[in-house]
Amino acid sequence: AASDVYKRQILIHVGYNQQYEMIKKFKDISELSQYAARSFIEIAKKSIEERGRFLASLSGGSTPMRLYELLGNQFQNEVDWPLVHFFWGDERCVPVDDPGNSYGQTKKVFFDKIQIPNENIHRVLSELEPDSAAKDYANTLKAFSEPPLDWPRFDLALLGMGDDGHTASLFPGSPVDVDSATLAVTANYQGRPANRVTLTQNVLNSSRNVLFLVTGRAKAVTLSRVLSDNYMPAELPVQRIAPADGNLIWLMDEEAGSLL
Ligand code: 6PG
Repeated sequence: AASDVYKRQILIHVGYNQQYEMIKKFKDISELSQYAARSFIEIAKKSIEERGRFLASLSGGSTPMRLYELLGNQFQNEVDWPLVHFFWGDERCVPVDDPGNSYGQTKKVFFDKIQIPNENIHRVLSELEPDSAAKDYANTLKAFSEPPLDWPRFDLALLGMGDDGHTASLFPGSPVDVDSATLAVTANYQGRPANRVTLTQNVLNSSRNVLFLVTGRAKAVTLSRVLSDNYMPAELPVQRIAPADGNLIWLMDEEAGSLL
């Protein structure tokens, strides 16, 4: 099956000896978002039970917005929010009230609906110069680090995938081997803001759970290459994401998964 090929590719190329990888298809984004919300809550409760807090890295883009709306409304009382800390996998370097700002968009549909202290929301200071914002965010991560790492092990990292195979703001052609936690990036994708700050795979691969949300026909070819072709991390940066000691879960709708 495609997932076995993907698992084998990843295990061969990154040498991680334990990996739980799962692929789940859903009729549409609505069904997918309901499942994602329940997974989010399950992971949150388990993390709080085991470690007294839940550290989550959120994704930007349009796919997760339905999930954020569900968490802020239908599921708003399901989690002990003061024990939750939110971070971002990447952010666009535009003001928070710009529609391109992931923090600002998420705040409207999610954070403004739940009782969470402002200090638990760790946004990228997108008003700074990209390099300064990246350095500042690396310091933010360090404050939650789990030695010997200089960053936290996220209990959950939510990620999307572009139709070009990028994830967070790790774009095709970007350097594969990096040793930093964050990077300032300039990229042009679907007319979205170009200057960004991104986490690198060093941080994302320390996560306990990585949850990809991928929907729509436009991503079907790329997704089938990502999960079935050889390991091509320069061309398909999303393949760089393989938690060293964590679960890798792909949620897709039938359109995006139509070639798998
Ligand atoms: C962002 C995301 C980015 C996104 C993909 C998919 O800030 O844009 O981090 O990696 O997940 O571009 O975006 P869609 O969900 O809008 O297709």
